[in-house]
Amino acid sequence: MEFNELIEVRRSVRQYKASEIASAELETIVAEALNAPSWKNSETARYYAAAGAAAKKRMWEEGLPSFNAASSAHAAALVAVTYVPGLSGFNGGAPCDELGNTWGAYDCGLASAYFVLAAKNHGWDTLIMGIRNTAKVKEILGIPKGEVLMSVIAVGKSAQKFMKVSRKAVSDVLRIV
Ligand SMILES: Cc1cc2nc3c(=O)[nH]c(=O)nc-3n(C[C@H](O)[C@H](O)[C@H](O)COP(=O)(O)O)c2cc1C
Repeated sequence: MEFNELIEVRRSVRQYKASEIASAELETIVAEALNAPSWKNSETARYYAAAGAAAKKRMWEEGLPSFNAASSAHAAALVAVTYVPGLSGFNGGAPCDELGNTWGAYDCGLASAYFVLAAKNHGWDTLIMGIRNTAKVKEILGIPKGEVLMSVIAVGKSAQKFMKVSRKAVSDVLRIV
């Protein structure tokens, strides 16, 4: 897909048809997301995918609040995105500036942006869910205690009409000096 079309058609989807995603396809999406820039190429984002029925059921019942479980129902995969702290934005174990681990979160956001665009380019719709039960998601997916959980991204096939929510005007967000 052309880039301009891709960024137009990538929208958060909150109704999914039942579908399954092959491990190889998830691997391709993550491989493409690895092109995202990161602090000194530290690449601290990590992905944990619930793609099997049992893991997804637990994620819907315990890992997500009911509204996000409903929005992601029937998704093919629920992918938790984390980052390894103390690396991005750090030099020899010491933070480079006042932002500290915020740089890890920054990199993780970039990685997630690439992930959802790569997914869309392969025909998969997504929903980034920042509202989740951290302890449960970590337990269900076996995420190491030290990693920082950011979001859970639903990956599936849309069952809803295309919907674009409005955006601010460029003049609201850009000042050129
Ligand atoms: C960090 C982050 C957290 C989000 N958390 C949720 C969430 O918990 N539930 C939800 O329905 N949407 C969530 N969203 C989706 C946003 O509401 C959505 O991206 C925004 O309204 C713009 O719509 P669009 O993605 O269709 O362009 C989240 C998005 C981001 C980037």
